[in-house]
Amino acid sequence: MREVAPLLLDWYDRHARTLPWRMPPGGGAADPYRVWLSEIMLQQTTVAAVKGYFERFTTLWPTVQALAAAEDAQVMAEWAGLGYYARARNLLACARTVAAAGGFPTTRAGLQALPGVGPYTSAAIAAIAYGLPETVVDGNVERVVSRVFAVETPLPKAKPELVALAEQLTPKQRAGDFAQAMMDLGATICTPRKPACGICPLSDLCAARRAGIAAELPRKAPKPPKPQRTGVAWVAMNDHAILLERRAPKGLLGGTLAFPSTGWDGSDLDAPLAAEWQQLDPVQHIFTHFALNLQVHVAHVSGNPERGFWMPRAEFTPGDLPGLMRKVWTRVQAAG
Ligand code: ADE
Repeated sequence: MREVAPLLLDWYDRHARTLPWRMPPGGGAADPYRVWLSEIMLQQTTVAAVKGYFERFTTLWPTVQALAAAEDAQVMAEWAGLGYYARARNLLACARTVAAAGGFPTTRAGLQALPGVGPYTSAAIAAIAYGLPETVVDGNVERVVSRVFAVETPLPKAKPELVALAEQLTPKQRAGDFAQAMMDLGATICTPRKPACGICPLSDLCAARRAGIAAELPRKAPKPPKPQRTGVAWVAMNDHAILLERRAPKGLLGGTLAFPSTGWDGSDLDAPLAAEWQQLDPVQHIFTHFALNLQVHVAHVSGNPERGFWMPRAEFTPGDLPGLMRKVWTRVQAAG
């Protein structure tokens, strides 16, 4: 289907979304730092949620050298709420590797050797920042391609097939605009449930539309239900301070600031100090591989804890906590 790229690029020239990390259509090379940062943030997170974080990061750290020199704790605090904290740790590791090497690698293979940069991100940077004819395949692209070619194989089995078809469509020129046009089409017109085929620039050549099955594609193999886990979080506080801990760098919520907790992450620990713990309603949270029911225990107490440290209330910013721990704090606030 040779016609797809020209039709789509023509549509993109008129309808591209304006996003803070983007050059306008046909605007040429984008800054690899900004492309890399936005693509890492956009993994598993929506464009709407990322915008503010991206603006704040690039204001605080306008270059990869600036980010490489940042304090780990400040980066984790700014990342708080974006989720998937391994991304933030890899972000810093990657920034430091790139700064030490004097800049980003200029090939897809070189990019893919960086911490946290997989096939998706390496292709995105190569195409968007360098104009290389690499094919970028995210969930939006999978959906568009599965519909254009009416691929009925269910995901995830269909992935290699969809990548090969997406490669066929990728033009030699303007591969970065093409990739972002596919993403925009997937986000605004070729949407999961109710695709707006009536205004789609590809509707005339879309096999799924012709067959009347666009909204059903891509088919998906049924997912096994998520296992359930339980745990306890302890919120110890007094008039002056709140007990927090810095989680171990690796593992669930690695490197984040958190209330001491146990059970849900494989640990088996006691309360951080002796107190009359009051039990509140639990909070629920969905992780990639399990659903968590976390009990919240609260106590007004002071003394020497076995783990964690007393954070003065004046310095405590709930926004610096990951989403799960914010829910815990909200539960405590609601209980008075
Ligand atoms: N999602 C992931 N990367 C994107 C980009 N560059 N533009 C729009 N949506 C995206």
